[in-house]
Amino acid sequence: MRLNAWLARAGVASRRKADELIKAGRVTVNGEVGQLNTFVQRTDEVSLDGVPLAKQRLAYILLHKPAGAVTTASDPQGRRTVVELVEHSSRVVPVGRLDADTTGALLLTNDGELSHQLAHPKYEVDKVYEVETWTQPSDADLERLRTGVELDDGPTSLAGVRRLAGARIELTIHEGRNRQVKRMFEAIGHRVRSLHRSRYGPLTVEGLEPGRWRELEPSEVEQLRRVTKRDSPTRASVLPKHDARSSD
Ligand code: URA
Repeated sequence: MRLNAWLARAGVASRRKADELIKAGRVTVNGEVGQLNTFVQRTDEVSLDGVPLAKQRLAYILLHKPAGAVTTASDPQGRRTVVELVEHSSRVVPVGRLDADTTGALLLTNDGELSHQLAHPKYEVDKVYEVETWTQPSDADLERLRTGVELDDGPTSLAGVRRLAGARIELTIHEGRNRQVKRMFEAIGHRVRSLHRSRYGPLTVEGLEPGRWRELEPSEVEQLRRVTKRDSPTRASVLPKHDARSSD
């Protein structure tokens, strides 16, 4: 693993700050001053300012994000960040982002490799949202969501769509573009009133109150890894279960 990634995982600093420490010559690997391109092996001894560092264990956290918390590292408006909510000894960061007013399942980890893979659309991690709109979409509107709508950054892929009640819709997507769900509903002429992510891959917030978090079980981490190891991802999990017909 590259030295800056190692330092980030050890909880010393973000990768960018780690680069600065390395450039300043403050980091040594087995007594040699580390370089930006230094690779660290499992048995290497890494020190900062001469003090040996212990590699941090990998941590995987599921947070039930409450409304009002932001998914950025710090907020100029002084709102709570999700990282502040998760008081954990490891320096975990969120995988992807949810808008400040969105609630629900958010994964945080210091496993940079898994995080990077999960964020990649090619792995097609299902994200299930419960959406309430101000006005009631018609069945034809929902069908448009299902087959894909045109957004300013390109068309959306096939989605799972199910009406839970009048203006309450369950939407399953595997992409993670900025404000994607809200923009998809805007594209069919309906503004989102509230947005809740009920599931992220295999993870649901069942049993977790808003603002509370828990560590993942090893079997859950394994499930996430399996999602990223699928050879030829299919959209089967998104499509057949839900359709655009009304269930009322
Ligand atoms: N899509 C949105 O529009 N907002 C979110 O927070 C998540 C997905």
